[in-house]
Amino acid sequence: MGTFNHFYHKSYDERINIIGDFSELNSQELKSLYENHNERNNSLIENYITDYSLPEGIAVNFLINGEEKVAPMVTEEPSVIAAASNGARMFAKNGGLNAKVISSNLTGQIIVKTDNFNLLFGYVNTHRDKIIAVANNAHPSILKYGGGAKEVSVRQLDENYCSIDLFVDVAEAMGANIMNSMLEALANFLKTKASKDILMSILSNYSIDSLVTVSGSVKFSQLGKGNFSGKEVANKIVEASHIAQIDTYRATTHNKGIMNGIDAFVMAMGNDWRAVESGIHAYASRNGHYQGLSHFMIKEDTLYGEMTLPLSLGFIGGATKVLPKVKINQRIAKVHSKKELMQFAAAIGLAQNLAALKALVTEGIQKGHMNLQLNSLAMTAGSTDEELFTVVQSLRQMQNPNLTNAKQIIQNLRK
Ligand code: HMG
Repeated sequence: MGTFNHFYHKSYDERINIIGDFSELNSQELKSLYENHNERNNSLIENYITDYSLPEGIAVNFLINGEEKVAPMVTEEPSVIAAASNGARMFAKNGGLNAKVISSNLTGQIIVKTDNFNLLFGYVNTHRDKIIAVANNAHPSILKYGGGAKEVSVRQLDENYCSIDLFVDVAEAMGANIMNSMLEALANFLKTKASKDILMSILSNYSIDSLVTVSGSVKFSQLGKGNFSGKEVANKIVEASHIAQIDTYRATTHNKGIMNGIDAFVMAMGNDWRAVESGIHAYASRNGHYQGLSHFMIKEDTLYGEMTLPLSLGFIGGATKVLPKVKINQRIAKVHSKKELMQFAAAIGLAQNLAALKALVTEGIQKGHMNLQLNSLAMTAGSTDEELFTVVQSLRQMQNPNLTNAKQIIQNLRK
């Protein structure tokens, strides 16, 4: 255990030597860590050793609130970007996606230990203005941007605990630091001035006061595939959307498909995708069991899709400032505000979902997905860059391309 004592005090070179010895890395592996390190990132995270890069691509064909857009997406998964472009294209042919931010406040909690809910409730109601003022004084600059603490309420958690919930408009920021500073100042005030027994204070990622809604429709004529007419495909997508409402197994995969798009966009935009994920999945369970986030239905001669979800994103501050690609990605996406960012993320989720559902209820996911997965399969099997094209061509001609086949093709090629 002594090897890593005060690891964080060591210089970069010392760290690399220590990890090299400990994990018995060869010189090639060490070289790869070293060549991909960036001094700047040493200050960003702790015990830094290297950069771990992921591919970024552009999903095209988005028409959102009447504006043509493209979406930068960071993902390692083949077919995600093709599917997002495919879904966006289907919606765009019938007017595109309409997205609207319903609310964009951050929620924070102060957990109070008390068996007297009524007393706490009365205190918070009587001192509401003072509580809001204490919160705002902890981060007064937010008022300049039209933000600030807006509301406070009390919830009973059980017979011993209550939560004081603070709702803050954090303007264009993601706002975690703003919220946490306000909560800690408020907790201190409640402790010292009102003798409240405070357990902890922290923002909540259950961002139900940061909701965005998106909808769009696709003409039956855009949905036909193989032997299936557009109307048949539309009806099958409606059924698939229903199954995601009644079965958790299916809902989880249904939502994973939506998150394929949202996460990849949120990462490209330098936002905290763990916060987004936890908030969205909690929201998917708000009715007591986990359900699909999107709903598809038939409206006249179209398939209509809609989805509402919490998306607490930031346009400025945090990693958006530190990661150099984020500013470029904001320009590529032509987003100029938090509101547009939230709308775009939701739109990508719905487009991604439509493409996946259409594939699932028609030709199956493997055809389109595996077609684009062949490069990845060839690389996993050990193909060099020079061999890649030939290996993929051979795999494409196979009925069931798999890793064993790929390895065999490479072996034959090398003979
Ligand atoms: P297709 O119908 O063969 O494609 O779809 P197409 O040739 O008709 O093209 C339609 C559009 O798709 C194109 O429009 C492109 O925008 C895009 P165009 O530019 O030609 O006017 N497109 C591509 N973009 C970039 N590179 C490509 C490409 N091909 C088409 N190579 C496609 C093929 C793969 C798009 C389709 O089968 C599809 O959308 N499949 C869904 C794939 C998917 O969802 N993948 C995610 C991984 S699977 C998963 O994790 C989620 C899941 O489990 C979720 C769930 O269960 O709900 C499925």
